[in-house]
Parts: sequence; C-alpha cells; structure tokens
Amino acid sequence: MGGLWLVIANIESKVIFMCGIVGYKGKRKASEVLLRCIKNLEYRGYDSVGMVTKDDKSLHVRKNVGKIDEVDKTEHFEQLNGNIGAAHSRWATHGGVTKLNAHPHLSNDGKIAVVHNGIVENYQELKEFLKKEGFEFKSQTDTEVIPNLIEYYIIKERNGLKDAVQKSLARIEGSFAVVVISQEEDWMIAARRGSPLVLGINKKENEYFAASDVPAFLEYCRDVIYLDDDELAIVYSNSNNPYEIFRLNDLTNIISKKEIKRIDWSVDQAKKGKYSHFMLKEITEQKYTIRTAIEQDHELIAKVTAAIKNAHGVFFVGCGTSYHACVSASYIFAHVAKRHVNVVLASEFRNHENFLKKETLVVAVSQSGETADLLDAVKTAKAHGCKTIAIVNVMGSTLTRLCDTSVMMNSGPEICVLSTKSYTSQLALLLLFAYSSAGRLEDGKKIILEACKHVDKVIDDSLEKLKPLAEKLHKQHDFFLIGRDLAYPSALEGALKIKEVSYIHAEGFAGAELKHGTIALIEKGVPCIAIVTKSTEKMILSNAMEVKARGGFIIGIGNEPNEVFDYFIQVPAASDADPILMILPIQILAYHLALARGFDPDFPKNLAKSVTVR
Ligand code: M6R
Repeated sequence: MGGLWLVIANIESKVIFMCGIVGYKGKRKASEVLLRCIKNLEYRGYDSVGMVTKDDKSLHVRKNVGKIDEVDKTEHFEQLNGNIGAAHSRWATHGGVTKLNAHPHLSNDGKIAVVHNGIVENYQELKEFLKKEGFEFKSQTDTEVIPNLIEYYIIKERNGLKDAVQKSLARIEGSFAVVVISQEEDWMIAARRGSPLVLGINKKENEYFAASDVPAFLEYCRDVIYLDDDELAIVYSNSNNPYEIFRLNDLTNIISKKEIKRIDWSVDQAKKGKYSHFMLKEITEQKYTIRTAIEQDHELIAKVTAAIKNAHGVFFVGCGTSYHACVSASYIFAHVAKRHVNVVLASEFRNHENFLKKETLVVAVSQSGETADLLDAVKTAKAHGCKTIAIVNVMGSTLTRLCDTSVMMNSGPEICVLSTKSYTSQLALLLLFAYSSAGRLEDGKKIILEACKHVDKVIDDSLEKLKPLAEKLHKQHDFFLIGRDLAYPSALEGALKIKEVSYIHAEGFAGAELKHGTIALIEKGVPCIAIVTKSTEKMILSNAMEVKARGGFIIGIGNEPNEVFDYFIQVPAASDADPILMILPIQILAYHLALARGFDPDFPKNLAKSVTVR
C-alpha cells in the first residue's frame, strides 16, 4: 500500500472515496431492497452510510456516520417510502467522516440526489463556478458539485434531467460512478467513468439495479450488464422499455449491442453464512477454490502458453497481494520454464515504457479487476501495442474488458478486504502456466492437486492451534518474516496479511537480507516467522539462528521440527506448490491476531477492497 499512502499525501486537501453505491427501481419498497443491497457492499467502505428514496413527488434522505447496522438503528432506513432510490456506503481516508459529508448529496433546491464513487478532481473550480451562480455548499466533499451542476443546467439552461446530467458529467475531471434520483422523474440515471458500475436485471419482477459490484443485488437477480467507461443508463423499469444505454457524448443513439451476462455465483457465496467473518469464510474456502482455479479450458491454457512462449519480453504486473503472486511466479518461471519474466508493481510500470513493443506480453494479475494502478499499467501497455492477458477473479470487471484475453480465477466473490483465497488461486494459475510453458502442464497440475490434498488439514490444524499463539503474541510491536527463494514472496505476503488486519508492524525479508541492517531491530522476544522449504532448509535455518542468537522468538513453518524453533507449525512439503500451503497458517495467525487485539478482520482501518484511486 506504499503507493496508496504516497497518493494520499499528494492530494491531502481532498477527501478520497472508494465507496459502494446502489440504485433500485422496481415494484418493491426501495428502502428495504436497498438496505439489503448496501449491506452487501459494506466491504467497499464503512465510514458512513446513506439512502434516498422517492415517494410520489418527494425525495427522502437519511444518512449518518458509522457501520450500516449501527446507523440503521437510529435512522430506520426502512421507514423511507417509494419504489425508487439509491444508497451509498462511504470510505474516506482522512477527515470529513461526518453526517454532512455522507452521501446522498442533494442539490440546493433539494430536487436532485446523487450517490457517487470516485473523485471529482476539479471540484474546487466547479464549486467556485457554482458559488458565483449563487449555489451554497453544506459539505466538504467533491461530490456535492454534481447535484448542483445538474440543478444549474435544469434551472439556468432549461435542460431536461438527461441532458443536464450529461452536461454536468462532461465537466467533471476525474472518476465517477453515479446514480442520480430526481424528485421530478420516476426513472433513475446511472453513469460511469473510471469507477465500476453494473446493471442488474430482474425481468420477471420487472425490477432493475445499478451497483458498484454484483454481490449487491445477487439475491434479486443474476442477469447483468457491465457499463463501460463513458456510458449512461436510464432505468425506467417499464415492461416494454426497461432501460436505455447511451454513450455519454451521444444521448440520441441507444447502444443496442450491450451483452447481458448471467452470473453463476450463488447467493450463499456472497454471504457470511455460519462463519463469524468473511475473512474466516474465505480462508476456509481455499479447501476447494485452489482446485477450481486450475479447472481451465484446455484451449485457453494453450492460448496463454503460446502467448508467453512467443512474446519478446513478458511483464507480470499487480498490486499488493496480486503483486506478491507475480513475484512468486517469477521464481517458478525461472526454475521450471527457464524463462525470465519481469515483475513490476503496476504503479511503477510506466517506468518500463521504453521496453514495450508490440511483441511484448503484459500479464495483469488482480482479484477485483478494478485496481486503478493496474488499469493504468494495462492502458500503458496497450498504448504501445503490447499483448495483454488478465488473470482475474471478477467477471466483467474493467480489466477483463481491457485485456485481449482473460483467465478467470473462479474463486467466487471475495468480500473481505484482505485477499486470501484469491492469492492461492493466483499462485496455482501462475504455477500452471509456468509448467505449461515448459511443456509440462500435467506435471504442474499434479503438483497443485497433490498440495490440495493437504489444504483441509493445514487449515483445520492452524485454526485450532494458532489462537493461543496469537493470544501470546498480540501485544508485540513488530513481526519479521523470512524466507528464501520461493518462500521469500511468501514472507512478503505474510507480512502484508499481519499488518493490514492486526495493525502490528510486520516486514518480510529474503532470509539473507536481515543481516544487512534490519537485524539491528531484533531484541528479546521479537517474533520472527521462518518459512522453511526443503531446498532452502539449511540456509534459512542459519538465518533463523542469527535472529535467535539476538533474542528473537522463532516461529518455524516447514516440514520438519528443528531445535531453532520456539514454536513450530508443520506444513507438508509440496515442491513448487509450497507457497500455496505455507501462506495458510500465516493468514490464520493474522486473523487470530486481529481478534486477540479486538479488531474486526472484515473492516480493517483505512483500507478498501478495490483501490480505485491512483
Ligand atoms: O483486486 P486486486 O488484486 O487488484 O487488488 C490489489 C491490492 O489492492 C490488494 O491485493 C490489497 O493489497 C489487499 N488488501 C491485500 O490483502
């Protein structure tokens, strides 16, 4: 998340949003439907929540600061009447978590309500313009300019709602997914540029949705249309004309060729069910998601393999956990396929522009397919004519529409902000492609399936045993994780897991690196997780010994116990699939550390599931 912090520092004066939005038009009571939908999007933002509905000719707005259930206790969203409306769950990085800053935002005349996900970069300029026109502002948000611009075009320029929205959005620099509800109309408008937005279609019940993500409305419908950038949808929900989709710069021609896709995720997949947290549910789902990930169409595997083999230069790009999967893959490509692949953080990819040609292949790895830094990297690659492949979990995401070819991870919805099951699916797929590039696809499959046989036990044992360890260590200020070769990226990923959910400082190192400086931080009792694989055993144990000699508390993850370990977590040897098994106990330790410290693992502070800012 280093890049994210840098961005935040650079645009300190703004409030940054990565939020969930949903709009509804149908026959049911909108507030009841919207409440259920917005709860399904709470993982996208949980600082504050709000809702607007329209009843006859009035808009009704309620909003407040806090998690949805807490706010609902005071605001009683279900009391709002009407069959049309929109809701919003907000994620702000700093400042401004107030009732006034929560969405929806209203125009000065109270007739236009807007929920927004994105950033209006030129909001100060637009605010100044509107102030000169006599508009007043109640919040510190960038979003409030949108309903007021719409009002401006309706009142001052006598435009209808559709044209007013078009003209307003044309003036916005930055990104948006918006739902607009007007007091004067019985239809809603949804539009996007740079932030995700998907229409949900329930033809039978004649009800329609517009949301940031599919899980929002999965319990109501499975047919969806993914809006592309600069598209605007008008949702009437009339049986003969339910919706119309336009390019934002041309509201006269309806786009006729938008494909309706059927989502095969089950409702249960997007619910916590019997689990106390999504994090725990998704960790446990790895008992089958790794296997599912490698059940790929043979033609697709052959196509990706050929693209890798024929490329002059291969780049693997990703952010956060997805980047760690790329680092892991680079080791297997080197060892097994004897191929050098470049691994670059997506946010740094532009620095490699001079090496991009039309023969270059860029493999973009992502759970969400909506990470802004990654989308920028792919756009850079495309601008140079490179071939692009996505390895991605979310069908219809922007990444799938940007890349020439997409390989779906098929892990089901990952709701928890922390990537867990998506990581092991990425590892499995990348391992598979390394082996197929070496002409050894079946060997690769065998190694992964062999590892899968142990996943149940590693998860169940860790769940049972690591709680007391977390309780013992939860007051520590630092964790160090060391690994060599393939276990080095596992150390990086393990550190990220511990940091983002327990807020304990953690750093992952290549085992030999500690002695080049960081070992100065080791003192009595500092926990150090040593990830020990068969091929690196001797070297990493001697690195662990160096830490122990300085008082460190050594937690060994490996195949065999050793006297250097103060605590041992046994994981079977899995050859090149070691990283798949080795990360499981660390995910579980991180989960227990969060609980022991009194934090909710599903709502880590300052984070959002899809990082849609640069
Ligand atoms: O959806 P993506 O895989 O593109 O997301 C990339 C990162 O934002 C993501 O992995 C992030 O680091 C997670 N919080 C890790 O748990």
